[in-house]
Order: sequence, then C-alpha cells, then structure tokens
Amino acid sequence: MRHRWSILFILLVAASILSVKLFTEASEDPPEEYKVPAEYPPHELGEHVKLGRAIVEQTNVHPLSKDYVGNSLTCSSCHLKAGTDPHAATFIGAAAAYPAWSPREKRVITLEDRVLNCFMRSQNGKRPPLGSKVSTAITAYITWLSMGHMINMNHLKPLGPNHVKPLDIKTDLANSERGAILYTDKCADCHGEEGNGTEEGPPVWGAQSYNAGAGMSQNAKLAAWLKVAMPMDNTGLTDQESLDIAAYINSHERPVFVLEEHLPGADGLGSYGW
Ligand code: HEC
Ligand code: HEC
Repeated sequence: MRHRWSILFILLVAASILSVKLFTEASEDPPEEYKVPAEYPPHELGEHVKLGRAIVEQTNVHPLSKDYVGNSLTCSSCHLKAGTDPHAATFIGAAAAYPAWSPREKRVITLEDRVLNCFMRSQNGKRPPLGSKVSTAITAYITWLSMGHMINMNHLKPLGPNHVKPLDIKTDLANSERGAILYTDKCADCHGEEGNGTEEGPPVWGAQSYNAGAGMSQNAKLAAWLKVAMPMDNTGLTDQESLDIAAYINSHERPVFVLEEHLPGADGLGSYGW
C-alpha cells in the first residue's frame, strides 16, 4: 500500500514538472509576426531556400557569394541568426514590404535590389548580377521567412514591418569618449581593442568592416541596432550608451564608398537563367 502511494506521489511530481515545462515553453513562443515557417517548401524551391540560408550564414566564404564580398562579414553578422532573430534587423516579414520606394536611390526597388545593394555597402563588395543564383537564393529565403505576412508595399522606405525601431534620442548628444570606455568594458573582449575582431566576433571598423555607404555607418542606425543586438546574448544598453558606443565605433576609419567601384560592368549587371 505504501509502495503504491509513493508511486502515485512520483507520478504527481513528474506531471507537475512536465506541465511547468510545457507552460514556460509555450509562453516563450515568439509572437505570430516573428514565427519562422515550420517547414521548407517542397522540391527544388525548398533546396533553393536552404541554399539562400547557407549563403546568408557564410557570405564571405560561400563559393557562390565570396567573390562579391569585400570584408569578413556575413549577412548573419548583422541579421542575427540568419535573419530569424526577431529584433536585430530580422528578415521575418521583410518581403511583404516590396517593391518599395527607396529615397536613397530615388526609385522603386524590389527585394532583390535591396539584397544586392547590401553586397555593395554592408559587405563592401560588388553587386551580384540580377537573376543570378546567389541573388534568387537569398531572395527566396527572405520571401520564405515572410510567408503568411500580408503584402503591404512600403511607400516611404525599403524596410519591412519588423525593422529596427529608431531610438528616441538626438544624435548630437553622442559622446565618443564615454563610448570608448564602454566599448573597452562591454565589447572589446569579442571585437578586439583595435576593432579588428577576434574569434568571438567580427571586425567593427577598419579594412574588413562595413564601408561608409552602409546603414551602420550612420550613428543613429548603428545605435538603434546595438540597443537590440549587442552585447551578444546580453543586450540592455541604454539609448545614451548605444549612441555613445556607436559614435566611438564610427569615429574610426573604414573603407570609403564610391558607388561606381561597387557596380559590376554592364555585362555583370544581370543574367537570364543559371
Ligand atoms: C554591417 C551590417 C549588415 C550586413 C553585413 C548586412 N546587412 Fe542588411 N541591413 C543592415 C541594416 C542595419 C539594415 C536596416 C535594418 C532595419 O532598419 O531594420 C539592413 C537591411 C536589409 C534589408 C531590408 C530589410 C527590411 O526590413 O526590409 C535586407 C533585405 C538586407 N539588409 C539584406 C542583407 C543581405 C542579404 C546581406 C548579406 C548579403 C546583408 N543584408 C548584410 C545591416 C547589414
Ligand atoms: C560575446 C561576444 C560579443 C560581445 C561581448 C559583443 N559582441 Fe558584437 N558581435 C558578436 C558576434 C558573434 C557578432 C556576429 C554575429 C553572428 O555572426 O552571428 C557580432 C556582431 C556585431 C556587429 C555587426 C557586425 C560587425 O562586425 O560590424 C557590431 C557592430 C557589433 N557586434 C558591435 C558590438 C558592440 C558595440 C558590443 C558592445 C556593446 C558588442 N558587439 C559586444 C559578438 C559579441
């Protein structure tokens, strides 16, 4: 009899542990607008989407993309977890915003254009040809991450519904001297005191970093991204700290941006079939 009671007791404890676990797991599920589709599309399309993900994660070394990259970053260096991190410049839902108006280019651009422009600026490289495999694979991957999101073309700027929110702070309040102290304290272990990166994190300034035409080279954009993305796995900088560190990082040299140097010749602009 006693034996039976103890079995019952053990079962009860096990059931309550399980229900607590299930409950916490359920409450940690990301909200609907940040859900990654449960499955890849079938057949060839699914393979292409997977290829896109691989390129996003290994942009500077992947055989299909490395020739178009001029630094040691990957798309994933900024679009964390291959663009599936809900906060740090996520790709989830992004495709729904295109075609969109681009104030920078003063014309309507497609998602593919947007992807290729990142090669010229954030990746300090060359624009891959329109319609090339590298281009359609990444675009297919981002579109897959946007399945179920209602198309809502953005007539103001080429940004999706879950883009990084700008900080509510004036950029002229930035103090790069305070930023230097914070950088040494919170960032240098992974990105190096000289900003040139370590095994734990990519370069944040210098020849192997994003160039002066990239969004991140603007203090306001970098600060907004830092606030939600860094320090890795331990975010929580204040607006002022994010801005101070952004000003410090961007006070260093990085590759200049001259558009013509990043555009391919007329024969490399586009292709039909691969
Ligand atoms: C140095 C950092 C960095 C790198 C590297 C980078 N990006 Fe970006 N990218 C950004 C930032 C910052 C934005 C603006 C995001 C925001 O405001 O939410 C952006 C925006 C985008 C957008 C528009 C997102 C939207 O919501 O509409 C796309 C698409 C994109 N990047 C694709 C890529 C691809 C593909 C690569 C790799 C080839 C890449 N990026 C590499 C920083 C980077
Ligand atoms: C524990 C290590 C770690 C710490 C601490 C850390 N980072 Fe990062 N950081 C990373 C990694 C790793 C990536 C690239 C993410 C990836 O590839 O998945 C990254 C990416 C970045 C990027 C975008 C890519 C690039 O190199 O330009 C910037 C900018 C950045 N971190 C700045 C900072 C700043 C500023 C701090 C301090 C507030 C900081 N990080 C703290 C590891 C770290």
